[in-house]
Amino acid sequence: MKFLSLSLLSVSALSAFVQAGPLAAMDQLRIFRTSEPELRLIQYGEDTPPKWMTESDKEALFRAGVKYMDITDHRNAAASTFSSWTPYIPTKSKYQSEVTPFIGNLTTDGMVEHLTKLTSFRNRYYKSSYGAQSCRWLIKQIQGIAEGTDHVSVKEFKHKVKKKKKKDWDQFSIIARFEGSNKDLDNELVIVGAHQDSVNMWLPTYGRSPGADDDGSGTVTIIEAFRSLVENGFRPERPVEFHWYSGEEAGLLGSQAVSEAYQEEGRHVVAMLQNDMTGYIGDNGEVIGIVTDHVDEKLTDFLKNLVDNYADIPYTLTKCGYACSDHASWRKLGYPSAFTIESAFDDSNHYIHTGGDTIDKLSFDHMKEFSKVAIGFAVELSHLRD
Ligand code: BES
Ligand code: ZN
Repeated sequence: MKFLSLSLLSVSALSAFVQAGPLAAMDQLRIFRTSEPELRLIQYGEDTPPKWMTESDKEALFRAGVKYMDITDHRNAAASTFSSWTPYIPTKSKYQSEVTPFIGNLTTDGMVEHLTKLTSFRNRYYKSSYGAQSCRWLIKQIQGIAEGTDHVSVKEFKHKVKKKKKKDWDQFSIIARFEGSNKDLDNELVIVGAHQDSVNMWLPTYGRSPGADDDGSGTVTIIEAFRSLVENGFRPERPVEFHWYSGEEAGLLGSQAVSEAYQEEGRHVVAMLQNDMTGYIGDNGEVIGIVTDHVDEKLTDFLKNLVDNYADIPYTLTKCGYACSDHASWRKLGYPSAFTIESAFDDSNHYIHTGGDTIDKLSFDHMKEFSKVAIGFAVELSHLRD
């Protein structure tokens, strides 16, 4: 197309040259040259100033392993200075008898089925037609689980505004919500999240990206936790939400949009737990990696207690770097967030962002350990404590 328009332009520039002289021809060429690529604003660290760059420079940065947030549409995002509300984070688990049946009901059957289908889309890239198809399939599964309940809703969080803007995209984020039984806590909430998109770093739009581990594993981990809670009649005191974000691989785009909307609405997020890569065991024994950098310290201490109480494997402490996943969007706005990963960061799956990120390298029993922790997190933090 570009080639065609270039050659058409050259022909018309040439005829302008012939008819009106060299200046008119230069004018036509300038029109072509000034259609510059859209720039994105990229932030690499808490204390480093963001930089403007083209989409292809941003993709090259991703391939080079630099972690970032694309803050083009979220330039003023920061913790609110008006709110004096601070959440109470417990130190120890207390609701074992409520949590245990939900955990006892977990199985790997649904996870196998869901991950098999999720990885069959060519990719789940946020801007590709495949990514738009995969999110429509995903929401149907989640709606199917919630069907027949009157206190659980499932909604699309759209990233496409009505007027077709170039920067919008078709893959929506998904939000499933348990209403709270205590109406005084209606404005508060607990969030369990994962990202639904995948990417082939060499060819984002068309390349094969099964994204089995990144983050198909987290996606099905939290679907299974959600299923067990719904089917066994979970009734939280304060609202609990499950989020499946779009556009994480492009710089936490979906979670920045959702968290900023919640901040604008004045919602009080008590705690957020991200599940990004929960399927690969690695060479150094089966553990749950608890991320300790760029997270809330108190909530992370509580997460250690949750793993001790509700998982059947130990945790190891690890680091993932700036803007490693969607928990960072919540933390940036001042909300407590925490993050579990499949292993120590150095032992994690090296096939991510390629066609090699496939199911055969993963363990569903390992994923199930993370579903247990997610259930512990949702139930324990849904209660009002003094
Ligand atoms: N799933 C990864 C983060 C990750 C890597 C978790 C290894 C556990 C082990 C995430 O999807 C990702 O790719 N993050 C990018 C940053 C992104 C926001 C541009 C990264 O790590 O490079
Ligand atoms: Zn990734």
